[in-house]
Amino acid sequence: MTDTLHCEQVPLPDLAAAYGTPLYVYSTQALTDALGHYQHAFAALNPLICYAVKANGNLSILRHFARLGCGFDIVSGGELARVLAAGGSAAKTIFSGVGKSVAEIEYALQQGVLCFNVESLPELDRINAVAARLGKTAPISLRINPDVDAQTHPYISTGLKANKFGIAFADALAAYQHAASLPHLRITGIDCHIGSQLTNLSPLVEALERLLVLVDTLAAQGIALQHIDIGGGVGIVYDNEEVPDLAAYAQAVAERLAGRKLKLMLEPGRSLVGNAGLLLTQVEFIKHGEEKDFVIVDAAMNDLLRPSLYDAHHRIEPVQQKAIAPICADVVGPICETGDFLGKARTLAVEPGDLLAIHSAGAYTASMASNYNTRPRAAEVLVHGHQHRLIRERETVAQLLAGEQACLAD
Ligand code: LLP
Repeated sequence: MTDTLHCEQVPLPDLAAAYGTPLYVYSTQALTDALGHYQHAFAALNPLICYAVKANGNLSILRHFARLGCGFDIVSGGELARVLAAGGSAAKTIFSGVGKSVAEIEYALQQGVLCFNVESLPELDRINAVAARLGKTAPISLRINPDVDAQTHPYISTGLKANKFGIAFADALAAYQHAASLPHLRITGIDCHIGSQLTNLSPLVEALERLLVLVDTLAAQGIALQHIDIGGGVGIVYDNEEVPDLAAYAQAVAERLAGRKLKLMLEPGRSLVGNAGLLLTQVEFIKHGEEKDFVIVDAAMNDLLRPSLYDAHHRIEPVQQKAIAPICADVVGPICETGDFLGKARTLAVEPGDLLAIHSAGAYTASMASNYNTRPRAAEVLVHGHQHRLIRERETVAQLLAGEQACLAD
């Protein structure tokens, strides 16, 4: 069956038979390789690679990365709980995000996170107050908004003045001075994140250069930093995009950090998991509409939101090649929304009952899944060579209803 798609050594139809569809399928080797590319490219800089948990927080994936030496980048108390449950270390975990609650800060301080990436003055005050109450000193970095255009989709661009993220470049010195005046904070670094799915290196390098200007200004004011965190990773190939070369990125970073004593940190998410996963789905019906045809599958926007939310492209491929006439159709799910599509105008030789692989579904896919239309979330499977393991059970409708009451108001 050479014309049957596999994940590592396992034919995808075997996984569909064993676990049902829709199903997220991940390759252990691809995870290892993706991390290896970063470790290799940046080896000379000995960075701490903090995997961005939001891309895919499955415990087995976190455990795999923890074992390979990763730290983690988290944006909620829930993500910290995931890291700890997976055997990750709080001491290698950085806490990002614009709206950290008092309870989350307390939890992170008690667990001993490596650093809080702080995004505003009120957040500095809040962390200082919680640390004072607990009798602790909180390590902090300020996330600077460098105002560079990441040249990506506006919803995932984060480093422009108009975005909610970070502290404005012009306000940074005053913010650091304020932080230095708070007794329960310890300033350790500086960070930024300008956006995701970056296909061009120059905005990343420009952001780094702007941060280094600040590092020097701060040093002149007596505020010496120990680390610089340059944010997320590079974009991945979904279709036919050109993506930045990691070696070139590492080289550009090395040149700019040369002669400095700054520890380098990175927070890649998508590029560590995106192309290590696919979403396996089965064709329910083929519907010939008046204007176009539809391949209706059992996965939907609740399982893969990216096409609906960002108009993102994911390659869709039949699991078995068939010698039948292809049709050009939109691949859609069963959800009652016109926006529920997984691919538009795809040429596919498929029949009802066939399996489709929706590629590049390792990042921001299972982690963005919802229960819309009371659809239980799909199972997740991790493949390793000939072996496969269920790493998240398929949700049941009973689980979805469990927290609800059928009450009358009176
Ligand atoms: N660090 C911070 C502070 C972030 O906000 C993000 C992503 C990352 C790191 C990881 O960036 P990456 O290496 O994955 O580019 N849901 C969207 C992506 C949103 C990304 C938000 N922040 C999508 O599906 O494209």
